[in-house]
Amino acid sequence: MSIFSDNEYIRLVKTILDNRFPVSSPKAYVHTYGCQGNLADSERMKGMLAELGYEFTDDINESDLILFNTCSVREHAEDRVFGNVGNLKRLKSEKPDLIIILCGCMMQQEHIALKIKKSYPYVSIVFGTYHMQRLPEFVYRALSKRERVFEITDTHEAEIVEGLPVFRDTSYKGWLPVMYGCNNFCSYCVVPLVRGRERSRDPEDVINEAKRLISEGAKDITLLGQNVNSYGNNSAFDITFPDLLRKINALDGDFIIRFMTSHPKDCTPELLKAMAESEKCAKHLHLPFQSGSNRILKAMNRKYTREHYLELVSIARELMPELSITSDVIVGFPGEQYEDFLQTLDLVERVKFSSLFTFIYSKREGTAAAKLQDPVSREEKGKWFKELLDLQESISVDIRRSMVGKTYRVLAESRVKEDSSLITGRTEGNVNIDFKADESKIGRFVNVKVTLAENLNLKGELI
Ligand code: SAH
Ligand code: SF4
Ligand code: F3S
Repeated sequence: MSIFSDNEYIRLVKTILDNRFPVSSPKAYVHTYGCQGNLADSERMKGMLAELGYEFTDDINESDLILFNTCSVREHAEDRVFGNVGNLKRLKSEKPDLIIILCGCMMQQEHIALKIKKSYPYVSIVFGTYHMQRLPEFVYRALSKRERVFEITDTHEAEIVEGLPVFRDTSYKGWLPVMYGCNNFCSYCVVPLVRGRERSRDPEDVINEAKRLISEGAKDITLLGQNVNSYGNNSAFDITFPDLLRKINALDGDFIIRFMTSHPKDCTPELLKAMAESEKCAKHLHLPFQSGSNRILKAMNRKYTREHYLELVSIARELMPELSITSDVIVGFPGEQYEDFLQTLDLVERVKFSSLFTFIYSKREGTAAAKLQDPVSREEKGKWFKELLDLQESISVDIRRSMVGKTYRVLAESRVKEDSSLITGRTEGNVNIDFKADESKIGRFVNVKVTLAENLNLKGELI
């Protein structure tokens, strides 16, 4: 572990920026693709940018620095980044001093970083997932020497850097990373290749950050890791994830705790018990199953069976009857047949997820699955996908209808775009309800009675 403090580049960058922007602060536009882990990283990069003297803007055209924190989990995510970077060419030609930064998971892949180097000469700084803490140095090099910076080396002994400043967009919601990396090597997944091996944060650092979040007004804290259940493994700390959950639950304050993601192979009855017994822990479990077919689960290297998954669901529901379960699923893994897909539909039918994140398989360079034959056409996979969406929609609608007449504690989050008299809030089970209320309720827990279910939308009233 190393600690970020008194970074000499902060002072150097500040001096340059004070000269270049004597009247008003320079503006930075930060956009994050991908998962909550990336959002948490962006909050730290924004923290560093704020210390350098940048203010943040939502208008890319008025920015002096643009940072895209990228995701490589599916091809679609990568295409969006390339499209958006392509669009910056014009802006850079109008503003030669504009600093364009690409970082995160996509950049950790050599073939992508090389493509950026060659074909996007107006990108100023490229760095991968191991060098975020060096952002002030990179900005200094780009500003002072106008040099292009490329830093994508895989340090292998990736360290955890503590003490980075954090800039949060909302005070009532907090992302709290507990571990980084992944050791699971699911055969379709690029994450272990771009994020490196699992490493857990010191529990003291996690708990101190939780305390800080609570004192700054966080009401909804999500503990983050690609597989939170392996928290503490291979570390110097004698602590498990259920222990950590209980410790955070014991902190003073009015807040709820969520966590993601839990891998079914390591989701133990002990974790479910800790959840059930921790009154601040949201009764919501995100437990990705990926496929309902044992044959495909094996090919995915997921290391559990559908029977094990269903058993976990039944233990969890016995301990927490009100539990809401959500999941991730992939359609069209190489070699998947319609019979396998029917097993996925069957599992969805049995579990009754309150919502489901559905993906069509995307081939990722460097993964084991990329070498497999993939004979089913995109069109056929699209048909299966539609079948799955229809089934899940009918289940989600039924669940929402069953909520009418009941009262839920929700965290009021934001104004509804289409009707500004409404605020949208989220239940512990991660379901949104819209209700009439004024701005002052945002960021607070309120009780809302559900009055109407229109397809997937719930309306309610404050009580
Ligand atoms: N660590 C988490 C998942 C992180 S990635 C877990 O193990 O559950 C988020 C989701 O993206 C995955 O759950 C999976 O459903 C999907 N995904 C990952 N790689 C994919 C690929 N190559 N094609 C399609 N979907 C993918
Ligand atoms: Fe990817 Fe599997 Fe790791 Fe999740 S557990 S990040 S799906 S390799
Ligand atoms: Fe994407 Fe990287 Fe997260 S690949 S899903 S941003 S860990």
